[in-house]
Amino acid sequence: MSTAKLILEGQEYEFPVIVGSENEAGIDFASLRAKTKAIGFDPGYGNTGACQSAITYIDGDQGILRYRGYPIEQVAAKASFVETAYLLIYGQLPTQAELDKFQRELTYHTLIHEDMKKFFEGYPAKAHPMAILAAMAVSLSTYYPDSDEPDVVNLNIIRMMAKMKTIAAFSYKKSIGQPYVYPRNDLSYIGDFLHMMFAVPSESYQNSDVLERALNLLLILHADHEQNCSTSTVRMVGSSRASLFASIGAGICALWGPLHGGANQEVIEMLDMIQADGGNYRKYMDMAKDKNSNFRLMGFGHRVYKNFDPRAKILKQSADEVLNALGVSDPLLDIARNLEEIALKDDFFIQRKLYPNVDFYSGIIYRAMGIPTNMFTVLFALGRLPGWIGHWKEMHDDPSTRINRPRQIYTGATERQFVPLAER
Ligand code: CMC
Repeated sequence: MSTAKLILEGQEYEFPVIVGSENEAGIDFASLRAKTKAIGFDPGYGNTGACQSAITYIDGDQGILRYRGYPIEQVAAKASFVETAYLLIYGQLPTQAELDKFQRELTYHTLIHEDMKKFFEGYPAKAHPMAILAAMAVSLSTYYPDSDEPDVVNLNIIRMMAKMKTIAAFSYKKSIGQPYVYPRNDLSYIGDFLHMMFAVPSESYQNSDVLERALNLLLILHADHEQNCSTSTVRMVGSSRASLFASIGAGICALWGPLHGGANQEVIEMLDMIQADGGNYRKYMDMAKDKNSNFRLMGFGHRVYKNFDPRAKILKQSADEVLNALGVSDPLLDIARNLEEIALKDDFFIQRKLYPNVDFYSGIIYRAMGIPTNMFTVLFALGRLPGWIGHWKEMHDDPSTRINRPRQIYTGATERQFVPLAER
């Protein structure tokens, strides 16, 4: 086994080096504090491996993303979202019988308890659906008991996958004041979601193949991305042995932020703003480069990818196809293309290796599908669900998991004497 040496105040220490299946190396600093009394300092965790995981591999320099070893391009072209979810959660591609069983289970657990409908009534009409989604995810734990019994764990995994799309669609119906549409057992996972979103009692609703295919692709591309902010949050919360429902509720909150999954909503709002400003995208490019401005080009840049985000490549092509198939012409797509073109030639972006990420084109596709902007991040959450569940399960099944508890460097006051109120 290779080792790494550290010299601290003249004293030499040795640490084991862990090598992953793609030869990526990690210095095992688990004994650092015990040996040296010092801690590793890495704000934002850019260099910290918090776990070993067999789910997703990313090589950010080469733009590679693989789910359980399968390249994202192949999964996106050949799999269904349900098949992808099975792969991420259980570790291998399902046989036909396994897939049928999984699909059946996901179909027969889609109803939420009738009492939960009352929760929706309590939210204001303008409530952001991400807030509702997070609250409802945690609320599931009040209806479905938690246990370490493997059958119960698995049943809760199925419940989580099956019920979240019902909750997501109900939160949309609530926001537009329409009656909730109940799930239908004769439809596919994605078909059922679209039906619950778009059907109205007064009209017959026919699912469109174009929408089903587009959403299948979008959800697959969002399904996992190793230790991103929301997935690490799920693992962090789950490490205290919190339930699957509670851990995923926390993950949904983390995803909501504009630097993470909330970016897909922000991209469209940014493109709208540029269009309203006469399409002057160069002005916004300059603002994004200006250190005195808080403005960032949303949908650009990534902590891990220092090359094209492979998901963005697939989505850029899909945006063209979906808009053509739906007969939609969206001026925001032209603005997005122009922004991308000038950003890729601009020194600021080249030097910092800033490329379009998955959120840059996804919003344009959602918009063409008739999905309102405030639902974009909810769809990201539905896609990311199998990844969160897979990571929660991997951590839960690993007997060596310890509660996640980072350290800090304290920078506050040193010891001082308490001054009573009357003397201050
Ligand atoms: N526009 C302008 N400048 C940027 C951008 C951007 N979108 N992203 C990074 N930079 C600059 C940043 O100012 C910094 O410059 P300097 O070195 O001169 O200080 C440099 O690039 C490095 O940026 P950073 O903030 O240190 O990078 P990070 O790894 O901490 O952040 C990020 C990654 C994704 C949060 C960031 O690139 C960003 O804010 N992008 C816009 C939001 C976005 O699209 N988020 C979605 C990410 S992909 C999907 C997901 O994970 O949810």
